[in-house]
Amino acid sequence: MKEIVVSGIRSTGYLHLGNYFGAIQNYVKMQEDFNCYFFVADYHALTTHPDPKELKPNVYRVIAENVASGLDPNKVALYAQSDIPEIPELYLMLNMLAYKGELEKTASFKDKARSQPDNINAGLLTYPSLMAADILIHKAHKVPVGKDQEQHLEMTRNFAGRFNHRYGDLFPEPTAFNFGEQLVKIPSLDGKGKMSKSENENATIYLADEDDKIRKKVMKAKTDGGPTEANTPMPDYIENIFMLMKLVSSEEHYNQFLNNYNNCEIRYGDMKKQLAEDMIKFVSPIREKAVAMQNDIPLLQKILAEGKDKARESASKTLSDARKMIGINY
Ligand code: ADP
Ligand code: TRP
Repeated sequence: MKEIVVSGIRSTGYLHLGNYFGAIQNYVKMQEDFNCYFFVADYHALTTHPDPKELKPNVYRVIAENVASGLDPNKVALYAQSDIPEIPELYLMLNMLAYKGELEKTASFKDKARSQPDNINAGLLTYPSLMAADILIHKAHKVPVGKDQEQHLEMTRNFAGRFNHRYGDLFPEPTAFNFGEQLVKIPSLDGKGKMSKSENENATIYLADEDDKIRKKVMKAKTDGGPTEANTPMPDYIENIFMLMKLVSSEEHYNQFLNNYNNCEIRYGDMKKQLAEDMIKFVSPIREKAVAMQNDIPLLQKILAEGKDKARESASKTLSDARKMIGINY
């Protein structure tokens, strides 16, 4: 039997290279050999109170950008979280197994409580139990995500373990997954933090960025006068540029600039020009496909409807088992 894979992306804005290399690239590879469920986490997006006018186009865009990146809706279930009523029901059950202390200590909750002090709602606090419900509803084994999600996965395993201990074995304990050896964190171009949908806009490369915008953003990336001694360790912001180059450029270009660095002959202007062109080559076909698809609303609705049917079939089985095991079957 094929192993089960689940992952989600919040509908909070434009997708970027962090989403691509942290998550989507793995989805595309996994669709061949695993039983995959990928979804738009629109309920999770509500924790930051999006404008209702923006929610729908954002959900459609996440679907279009995933398909444009190579995800095949015939090979996977591609759906919206809010179309699966079994998820909030399991979330409610898991909330009885999630403790206030551990929820308050979660890094993502602490970050959000700091960044939106006027909106520390219960959905933010219980974000990890909703995410656990997303994953456990299909009894997933593997969850392709970026490094920032590691703690949420650990909590998912804890909730699964508590359910199994209290009510009997139902859930496998899922692990975060990346085809490389480690989970990845794609840095932003300004050397501060990671690429992200909502912060750091000028230092994040979006899959929807036009060629010139990519050039401008890359040319602004932080550099310095270059090393003066051979084989100097790289400062973070330079290491980041090399990391991005490794992802989108040829090995030959990467090695050439690395040698230049080690021999103190590096010209960062040239390196950034090369990086910008290679990013454009990578991003522009995805952008063009996604834009075309976003205008085809009937197609997007068909994908969502088919995804919903596939996901509900699996979700309703798990939920009915969970209800029985808890004793809710009168
Ligand atoms: P964002 O953080 O940009 O709002 P999401 O939270 O919806 O995006 O994340 C969707 C997926 O993309 C998750 O698997 C997350 O780990 C991954 N991801 C987001 N940003 C990065 C990044 N900079 N590097 C690696 N993976 C990332
Ligand atoms: N919390 C994830 C993020 O911010 C999105 C997400 C929601 C998710 N539910 C999930 C990821 C289930 C993997 C599996 O990136």
